[in-house]
Amino acid sequence: MNFEQEYQEALSLVEGELDGCFREGGPQGELLDAMRYSLLAGGKRVRPVLALKFCEALCGEMEPALDYACGVEMLHTYSLIHDDLPCMDDDELRRGKLTCHVKYGEWLALLAGDALQTAAFERLATSRRTAPAANGRACAVLAKAVGRGGMCGGQYLDMVDEGKSVDLDRLTQTHLWKTSALLEAACLLGLTASTVEPSPQQWAAAERYAKELGLAFQIRDDMLDVTSTAGELGKPIGSDADNGKTTFVTLFGLDKCAQLVAEHTQLAKQSVSGAFERPEFLCALADSLAERKN
Ligand code: IPE
Ligand code: IPE
Ligand code: MG
Ligand code: MG
Ligand code: MG
Repeated sequence: MNFEQEYQEALSLVEGELDGCFREGGPQGELLDAMRYSLLAGGKRVRPVLALKFCEALCGEMEPALDYACGVEMLHTYSLIHDDLPCMDDDELRRGKLTCHVKYGEWLALLAGDALQTAAFERLATSRRTAPAANGRACAVLAKAVGRGGMCGGQYLDMVDEGKSVDLDRLTQTHLWKTSALLEAACLLGLTASTVEPSPQQWAAAERYAKELGLAFQIRDDMLDVTSTAGELGKPIGSDADNGKTTFVTLFGLDKCAQLVAEHTQLAKQSVSGAFERPEFLCALADSLAERKN
């Protein structure tokens, strides 16, 4: 199987599961609609694919990680809904559709994000594909990645630094927290779900892969905000400049950014090669994200 086919295979597993979510109806039906609206808008699903493929790299199967994969995508979707709110980046387009707050209003978008976050933890905690002890560890991994020393901490730095001049160390910290942390959680959730216990070296290799992949991913995101079109990207371009954000592009320019993406991608690949028996997909994924157009 080639990379594209393998990606599609993992993607369709995830899409099938997500499509079944939040269909229960009830007096809060509109809240469920808002959650499904953003969750099923068709992102790249990088985080759930990472969870499935790290699991597979270790034990040869993706299925044990399927609930964890869904959980991490719910968590990510919550982060996007809140990131787009008027009080944050104030954006009107996401995944090629109106942002949640433009479609449903601000308070409902806020609640849709909140409820997606708790649904993510529920999904991890109650998975029957994995043992209760693993589910507890999975919740701890995700909580650490999205809280004050992870995604929320990074979003704090991103917001508080608007309009200020920021140095490389600070911006790297912001990117590691706001973007790498959740990618790292996705990889570690895959290892946590595996039927084979990861060695400390494999755990560390996954952490290192995700940190480097996350830096490359966010630098590429900063580049696309300048070079792409809203049609291709599915979200507005120029958002960072409009909000006075320091990005890797404002610090270094596009050419140097392309070089940095290549360097971090190489480091990501190096860290999994040798640590896993089947690192090929993880390396090809890093390469494809370095070249991504959306
Ligand atoms: C966007 O994430 C937010 C960043 C961390 C840059 P993605 O680029 O993974 O967005 P989707 O999930 O494909 O929409
Ligand atoms: C957001 O970074 C990362 C999150 C935690 C959601 P950005 O603000 O650059 O993401 P986009 O460009 O809106 O997707
Ligand atoms: Mg933002
Ligand atoms: Mg944003
Ligand atoms: Mg961005």
